[in-house]
Amino acid sequence: MPAVVIVGAQWGDEGKGKIVDIYTEDCSMVVRYGGGPNAGHTLVVGQDKLIVRLVPSGILRPHTTCVLAQGMVIDPDRLVTELDELDKRGLVRESPLVVSDRAHAILPFHILVDGLREKGAGALGTTKRGVGPTYEDKAARRGVMLGALRDLKRCERLVAVALEAWTPTIRALGGTPPAVAEIMAGLEKVAPRIVPLLGDTSRIVGEAMSANKRVLFEGAQGTLLDVDHGTYPYVTSSSATAGGACIGAGVGPSKIRAVVGLTKAYCTRVGGGPFPTELHDETGERLRKAGDEFGSVTGRPRRTGWLDLPALRYAVRVNGLDGLALTKLDVLTGQGDLQVCVAYELGGKITREFPIADLEAAKPVYETVPGWKEELGKARKLEELPAAARSYIQLIEREAGCPAWLVSVGFRRDETIVLRNPFEG
Ligand code: IMP
Repeated sequence: MPAVVIVGAQWGDEGKGKIVDIYTEDCSMVVRYGGGPNAGHTLVVGQDKLIVRLVPSGILRPHTTCVLAQGMVIDPDRLVTELDELDKRGLVRESPLVVSDRAHAILPFHILVDGLREKGAGALGTTKRGVGPTYEDKAARRGVMLGALRDLKRCERLVAVALEAWTPTIRALGGTPPAVAEIMAGLEKVAPRIVPLLGDTSRIVGEAMSANKRVLFEGAQGTLLDVDHGTYPYVTSSSATAGGACIGAGVGPSKIRAVVGLTKAYCTRVGGGPFPTELHDETGERLRKAGDEFGSVTGRPRRTGWLDLPALRYAVRVNGLDGLALTKLDVLTGQGDLQVCVAYELGGKITREFPIADLEAAKPVYETVPGWKEELGKARKLEELPAAARSYIQLIEREAGCPAWLVSVGFRRDETIVLRNPFEG
């Protein structure tokens, strides 16, 4: 049962694309299990860069089946655009792509509501892709699953019910609801492209696992954006933690061999919400520049800050992390002495726990550790790193209570120290 889950241990954007690419090298299947076009990663195709939001990076590997499972919310237009872009670049899509017929469709009014809400006082800083309102419809049991595209008459009835429910909200937010006919005209256009891709992904994934194939479950967003375990209400609307793989893909927890957590060597966050170790100064600006910290979906500058070890310990616990993939260590080169949050002060007391329910009132307690000036990109073994960088890794492992299985020292694929393959051993 070589099934591995990879999740973001922070607020997303931990550099998943590159690590998933490394782990899918000898993988039969890569499965996205939650979220939708709010995620984004950059595919490097020859000299070309392409940002994809739905399709996992496994699409570039001919032998890898890519699965978009039922925990996802999928914008049919966006999916077709993404497939067209891949085709345009001459990428023969030899890797089969299977899309769950039970994944929920993001419809134009979901995107409209998301955008209108973000103009108001209650804005959360969402990606405005309609993700939240689509999950709202799913929980309200009036969502439209992609399987409905097989029967457009039935689909039209479902769309009308959902739209009717949203109409007062759209009007109250100052918008104009779209017409059902207009929505259906769009769906009729894309249905012939999507219907052939639809399937029972839970069965397909289950069969691959029973046949002992290597399956990678690719989380989206990050632990602190999880709807249950994140910094609510500043979260996304899905289960971004490792347990979400079981729910979103329809596999049992006993079938997962290992869970890998991705963490940057510092922290970033996009959108609103608490971020206790955030830097509002020159150092924050330097980290943003050195780490190219701008959102791949929205282009927004990411908020930057020091590494938060209580938050990482929290991520180790709620995801059951077995190993860490530490990314962007090279970004810390030349940043001088480094600050690391090792505990919090809350109500006059020091706690090593991440005070998830009280973040606004909690004050980070920092330890200062020496930085380094050397470039790290050429290191392929821990011993080839400067002593200060090695100590930084050891501090993270010790405080998080979780070993590093991979350390990324540059954006290129080979700029990586692989310590353990999660599919083996
Ligand atoms: P939504 O998922 O678009 O509803 O946005 C909710 C929150 O999650 C906002 O703070 C977004 O910036 C954040 N978010 C959603 N997807 C991602 C992601 O892939 N990376 C980082 N932040 C994300």
